[in-house]
Amino acid sequence: MIPVNQPPENNPGPAFHVGPIPVYGDLILSPMDGFSDLPFRSLARSLGSAMSYTEFVNAIDVTGGTGRFEQRLRYLPEERPVVFQLFDDDPERLVRAAENVMRWNPDIIDINMGCSAKNVSGRGAGAGLLRTPEKISQIFSTLSKSLPVPVTGKIRLGWDDDHLNYLEVARRIEDSGGQLVAIHGRTRQQGYTGQARWAPIREIKECLTIPVIANGDVKSVADIQVIKQQSGCDGVMIGRAAIGNPWIFARMDHEQVPVDEVRRLVRHHLRMMLDFYGEEEGLVLFRKHAVRYVSPYPLSREDRSALLTCTTPEAFLDRLDQILAAPLLAPDGHNGRGSQHQQGNPDAVEEDEPLYACSQ
Ligand SMILES: Cc1cc2nc3c(=O)[nH]c(=O)nc-3n(C[C@H](O)[C@H](O)[C@H](O)COP(=O)(O)O)c2cc1C
Repeated sequence: MIPVNQPPENNPGPAFHVGPIPVYGDLILSPMDGFSDLPFRSLARSLGSAMSYTEFVNAIDVTGGTGRFEQRLRYLPEERPVVFQLFDDDPERLVRAAENVMRWNPDIIDINMGCSAKNVSGRGAGAGLLRTPEKISQIFSTLSKSLPVPVTGKIRLGWDDDHLNYLEVARRIEDSGGQLVAIHGRTRQQGYTGQARWAPIREIKECLTIPVIANGDVKSVADIQVIKQQSGCDGVMIGRAAIGNPWIFARMDHEQVPVDEVRRLVRHHLRMMLDFYGEEEGLVLFRKHAVRYVSPYPLSREDRSALLTCTTPEAFLDRLDQILAAPLLAPDGHNGRGSQHQQGNPDAVEEDEPLYACSQ
């Protein structure tokens, strides 16, 4: 028996439906390779993310039985609705992969048409599909006919500014049976540079009847309201800003979160990582989250390098407690968190290291 997607207590009703599936909430954790694994997704879901998108999975791995795709597709029942995200440039292989992963009962299958990484988009998958709109129609019409669950798509605005075909792509998705479109408001050429554009998302919203999810550069609770107003979207997807601040799904900016709650959640997250990946790998993989959890706190070089090199969870947690207990300078009488960097603390470390293992 598959547990169903239950409305949370005191919820006024679904924000939107994906086909027949009600979605109770308008904020969603973005799929992120290397981040949106079971521990982080379920934690975000418990804080208010309304559905769970897996990290993208290569259809070649699924059909060939290679890679760690099974681990990437594991989920907890309370994460439902669960969306398995696949990518490929070959419609037939995508269909075979989607049919294959149905044995794990996802609620929705999503097709990645936004990945800008050269090794993905360069071979015509991810954002590379935006260059072959007819293939997109083929993929969605075949999948929506052959799968027992809704099929959705995540896109960018186009390949580059000379090829902004988002309206054509979005229409093709809907006309071919797709049940939701999520849009990252950048082109493939932009990668992660410049600003995400939210106005084009309104154009998409106005020409589709299926739900539209807006994405790109939502960094704070205030941004949520702005992107909703500018785009008229049904929901908002949040990626990088949720790393270190999953409370954004409870509509809290990091500085509003009491330090005891930070301590509790970091410990819980670490425990889940150790359980999911094993002690050694779990701790290593948790480091990239840890540096973000403590980023609003004064962090010396020594603290940072200790967090990144601790070899036992106990040593890691000791150091974390020291960081979270540090007295914070507070010029405005507020608890002062987040003020250190602005004050030019000579020992503070700038966020200048690449955080991401992947070049999505
Ligand atoms: C590290 C990283 C991994 C990503 N992996 C995926 C992915 O697997 N599938 C996907 O559709 N998008 C992926 N993205 C794109 C995000 O889902 C999102 O569209 C993008 O980060 C813009 O949103 P943001 O400004 O809220 O981060 C990834 C982004 C990052 C930073």
